[in-house]
Amino acid sequence: MIGNDIVDLAQSRLESNWQRKGFLEKLFTAEEQGFVKDYSEPEIMVWLLWSMKEAAYKIYNRQTKIREFCPKKLCCSLDFLNSNMASGKVICAENIYYTKSRISSENIHTVAVKDFEQKENIIEVQNKEIVKDQNGIPYLKTTDVLQDISISHHGRFEKWVIIQK
Ligand SMILES: CC(C)(COP(=O)(O)OP(=O)(O)OC[C@H]1O[C@@H](n2cnc3c(N)ncnc32)[C@H](O)[C@@H]1OP(=O)(O)O)[C@@H](O)C(=O)NCCC(=O)NCCS
Repeated sequence: MIGNDIVDLAQSRLESNWQRKGFLEKLFTAEEQGFVKDYSEPEIMVWLLWSMKEAAYKIYNRQTKIREFCPKKLCCSLDFLNSNMASGKVICAENIYYTKSRISSENIHTVAVKDFEQKENIIEVQNKEIVKDQNGIPYLKTTDVLQDISISHHGRFEKWVIIQK
């Protein structure tokens, strides 16, 4: 299973003031708030953690069909981080999702998978035929089967990702 999320940093600056009172406390656990405070570019850390949570949530929701706004139930940890990329985990209830993020001055794009080995098999696709189930969850229509696909758009950017078979 796969999830992804893209954050257009120009758009997020227009839409959200992450420095406003209560913003961080509402979305992030105490440990995550520490990641933001201690990182040299706190704004990047805010949207990195956000995109990890949203990407993981898309798998969680596909698995469980539970719809909820549950930012603090999606707990992020980072295994690797530099100015261009990050990898880590999001734990939600008994589930672990593995994430990989690309960071640029324009956007942050995170993909999440349920099986660690699938992390290296993610590809981007475009202009494919999509069908959605009754919950709005998208599938890629190939000749005879439906395959999981994750779609994300924000501001100027859109990403469609699948796990390559
Ligand atoms: C459903 C949700 C994940 C959509 O995310 P978004 O950032 O608003 O929008 P995105 O563009 O990234 O994703 C939208 C796409 O996801 C897909 N999608 C919609 N519902 C979905 C779901 N439940 N599971 C997986 N994919 C879903 C759709 O394909 C949709 O695109 P389309 O309408 O063009 O087909 C989000 O609104 C939500 O409910 N999040 C709650 C989880 C949470 O607690 N987040 C806290 C973050 S700090």
